[in-house]
Amino acid sequence: MVLIMQEAKKSPIPLSFLIIYFDMKVMQRNNARSGPALIAAELPRPEPGEGELLIRVLAAGVTPPELGWYPSNYAKDGSPRKGAVPGHEFSGVVAALGKNTHGFQEGQEVYGMNDWFADGATAEFCVTQASSVALKPATLTHEEAATVPIAASTAWQGLVDRAKIQPGERVLVHGGGGGVGIFAVQLAHLHGAHVIATVSPNQMKLVAELGADEVIDYHASRFEDRTQKVDVVFDGVGGETLDRSWNMLKPGGRMVTIASIDDTAEQRVKDVFFIVEPNQQQLVEVAKLVDAGALRTFVNAVVPLEQASDAYNGSLMNKRGYGKVVITVPGDE
Ligand SMILES: NC(=O)c1ccc[n+]([C@@H]2O[C@H](COP(=O)([O-])OP(=O)(O)OC[C@H]3O[C@@H](n4cnc5c(N)ncnc54)[C@H](OP(=O)(O)O)[C@@H]3O)[C@@H](O)[C@H]2O)c1
Repeated sequence: MVLIMQEAKKSPIPLSFLIIYFDMKVMQRNNARSGPALIAAELPRPEPGEGELLIRVLAAGVTPPELGWYPSNYAKDGSPRKGAVPGHEFSGVVAALGKNTHGFQEGQEVYGMNDWFADGATAEFCVTQASSVALKPATLTHEEAATVPIAASTAWQGLVDRAKIQPGERVLVHGGGGGVGIFAVQLAHLHGAHVIATVSPNQMKLVAELGADEVIDYHASRFEDRTQKVDVVFDGVGGETLDRSWNMLKPGGRMVTIASIDDTAEQRVKDVFFIVEPNQQQLVEVAKLVDAGALRTFVNAVVPLEQASDAYNGSLMNKRGYGKVVITVPGDE
């Protein structure tokens, strides 16, 4: 970047007529049949368009299955996509403003999401809609804040927007110790529900502390044998666990699932599956709950940008048994 500026100063052409490109470091999808999941590259730093913000990424959350999701492999028009930059949740600083981004200023610390089809936050910079971010929870580090947007928004949209949970209802959360499940358990508890969570043994103590009234070790027993029918199932596991859960619903009970499905899924599964969408108001509410100490988040492991491939190939997961893996990006330019 500096070299380009010096050349520009020496140039007989007035600076205002020069276009200066800034590069940024990214880790992008390796579409070769072998080798690491992600490879290092330099791409032009994106420019924020109307309604968009350029974010200086300081930390990005990792959702390993994302590499297999449709937007990581296809563009919006259906054409094959190569070299996608993954990681669509982040915490960082507003680096530049597009037009009509009222309410934001350069330098603000924010957290949020960006479009699944856009290049993500496993990079020094990313562009996002201003409506997809909110001020970072003040009590969290950037690493902690980067674990929140997708997980908390998914839990909120499943339980509140779709299942419309009510105080006193019985809510069964499958995968209650996972990245999303931890938020589903806490949000259901905050809504006054009776929470039942299926988890791994090393997550039982934590999930009970977070508000689950009944915690079931899915390795040791079948949930059907351990609890009564429920008003809501929030499924973060899918497959056989989802299949066995329909019978757990009381008459009028509601099911939501977030686990990936394909075209062969039953219609009733397609009807209750959804993909999380960025929602600024929800991020604002979540930040308030976090700062009030009512919602907790957990970092499993932190890896630098250049080692992001390890975070996506699964080798770092479950060091702690719960919490998300986070990529950190040094803040100096
Ligand atoms: N649709 C969306 O918008 C959306 C958004 C975010 C995530 N997702 C997807 O939703 C799923 C959950 O995401 P996540 O980030 O929470 O993943 P995660 O952190 O890997 O959590 C999954 C949890 O489920 C547990 N688990 C596995 N099998 C189970 C079973 N049979 N019964 C109960 N618990 C079981 C796992 O425990 P062990 O590892 O110890 O077995 C783990 O704690 C993933 O498939 C992810 O790709 C979808």
